[in-house]
Amino acid sequence: SAAVRDRLRIAIQKSGRLADPARQLLAACGLSWRESRDRLFCYGETLPVDLLLVRDDDIPGLIADGVCDLGVVGRNVLLEQDGDRRGNGRAPAFREWRALGFGGCRLAIAVPDAWQWQGPQDLAGKRIATSYPALLTQWLAQQGVDAQVVLLSGSVEIAPRLGQAEAICDLVSSGATLSANQLKAVQTLVESEAVLAGPVDRFDDVRGELADLLLRRLDGALRVRN
Ligand code: PRP
Ligand code: ZN
Ligand code: MG
Repeated sequence: SAAVRDRLRIAIQKSGRLADPARQLLAACGLSWRESRDRLFCYGETLPVDLLLVRDDDIPGLIADGVCDLGVVGRNVLLEQDGDRRGNGRAPAFREWRALGFGGCRLAIAVPDAWQWQGPQDLAGKRIATSYPALLTQWLAQQGVDAQVVLLSGSVEIAPRLGQAEAICDLVSSGATLSANQLKAVQTLVESEAVLAGPVDRFDDVRGELADLLLRRLDGALRVRN
């Protein structure tokens, strides 16, 4: 893939829930950056470790393509895109290197408040709206439930009210979005949090030493926090 590089590139979320905590954690590892004008690329000053500010959903693909070396992303995104690759017969191209202890949430099945939930079999023949088709499809198969997956890229919680689906499968953090839409979580598929993601294999150039140094500092910072 990419040519040999002597700097490490870490992709983080440009804006959103993981953006600030990701930056703060990396700063706690002794990294600092000179801000570029558009702020999408931050040049590392104390160490040759640069930041790329991107959409979180793009992070696994950037690692797979060797455009970025590491990334801070939700486990939910990583597992979904890994599941999608596997479903298409492609080899794993990234994996979780460390759990980071922030951005906790769960991927859950949620149904209208009035639904007397008995178990996964209740979903048979139903339509389930989600942005996580690979993880949902995998889980339905494990449960032996035949349901229809309706793909939405956002605002999934509105689907039952619009008559697009009977249930949803989406992330739940505080639960505020669910209750505001008269839904309740009934089944957890994945416990998620922010993770450091990287390639399946270690780097075989100077980036390997940089990554080791970063991991040592990260483990120290995580021990102090948790
Ligand atoms: C996430 C998720 C839920 C909501 C859950 O969406 O998809 O919609 O947060 O959080 P809560 O339980 O605290 O209400 P987000 O706001 O990140 O937007 P997105 O779906 O567009 O990424
Ligand atoms: Zn996103
Ligand atoms: Mg959402």
